[in-house]
Amino acid sequence: MKAWQIAAPFGIDALQQVERPQLTPGPQQVLIRVRAASLNYRDLELVEGRYQGQPDQPFIALSDGAGEVLAVGAGVSRFAVGDRVIGCFWQGWQAGPLGACSTAIPLGGPLDGMLAEQVLLDESGVVACPAHLSWEEAATLPCAALTAWQALIGEGQLKAGEWVLLQGSGGVSLFALQFALMHGARVVVTSSSEDKLQRLATLGATGLINYRTTPDWHDEVLRITAGHGVDHVLEVGGPRSFAQSLQCLHPSGQINVIGYLGGQQGEINPLLILQRNARVRGIAVGPRNAFEAMNRAIEASGMRPLIDSTYDWLDLPEALRHLASGAHFGKVVLRLG
Ligand SMILES: NC(=O)c1ccc[n+]([C@@H]2O[C@H](COP(=O)([O-])OP(=O)(O)OC[C@H]3O[C@@H](n4cnc5c(N)ncnc54)[C@H](OP(=O)(O)O)[C@@H]3O)[C@@H](O)[C@H]2O)c1
Repeated sequence: MKAWQIAAPFGIDALQQVERPQLTPGPQQVLIRVRAASLNYRDLELVEGRYQGQPDQPFIALSDGAGEVLAVGAGVSRFAVGDRVIGCFWQGWQAGPLGACSTAIPLGGPLDGMLAEQVLLDESGVVACPAHLSWEEAATLPCAALTAWQALIGEGQLKAGEWVLLQGSGGVSLFALQFALMHGARVVVTSSSEDKLQRLATLGATGLINYRTTPDWHDEVLRITAGHGVDHVLEVGGPRSFAQSLQCLHPSGQINVIGYLGGQQGEINPLLILQRNARVRGIAVGPRNAFEAMNRAIEASGMRPLIDSTYDWLDLPEALRHLASGAHFGKVVLRLG
């Protein structure tokens, strides 16, 4: 059984193609033949050995993947052979707050991930594929899509007519755009690329700002929203952009702290949170029951994830370099078999 492994000394050129023993499902486990996997920014950090909490031991790469059930172990009741399934980013987190769950642990570091011909998961860490999605589309959902869903819908309780601010056109932001529009919200989005801004307009974004040529983008957000400000922010920029997000937040609006694409250091004046009555929350993907709720919405609406490019899984280094370039618009996917 072939797999891609991440190990010291790290780096894209140090990725290892390894042969692992055949797997047999134990009690409560399902054996999955992986058909597609997708890349997240986190995978790049793990490959390069710079993830906060980088595992010491070698592990199979990637949190996100989808495939068919090949065999089930004793006591499995949720799935049968032949079912189309997706692995959950967090194994051992079914519902409720992450802080109240002592068993949650992510795939693709430290747990072995999805970039292998076969994967063994507990049936509690697997969800059914939305029926209308291809393998490639289904494989994009576990991390970026669920993060966007949790921020806006699961936790954020987004209402029709509200304003949403999305930073950049990465995987999380594009899913958030689709979920926001699905719920009747209006979206302002920033990007460093005029070409990507035009594509975001075509997808339905109302406000378009180039954050390179408009460094004071918060003023532009206020102009676009006629002084109202935004009700929800998906903060993927990190500490440096957080202060700007606060300045264009509607009173009692919500900021979801998600990423740190603009760097991990910066200064934030907490009094701005008080003045705006802001609600600030950290998002760490989400539990299985939120993944299932998201999939119901995807199925009911017929939504399809946006895919930038699909690579053969043996071309993982090339796919990672493409993600690292920031040229992608949509998910970067790997096809197996
Ligand atoms: N907390 C969680 O649960 C969670 C889950 C998923 C991801 N994340 C984090 O969220 C962030 C985004 O992840 P992703 O998968 O969406 O990444 P991605 O697909 O690699 O996004 C890359 C895009 O982000 C935009 N970007 C880069 N630097 C930026 C900056 N300083 N300000 C605004 N936008 C910037 C660029 O968009 P343009 O080309 O349009 O400029 C770039 O193309 C990462 O930091 C990731 O670690 C966190």
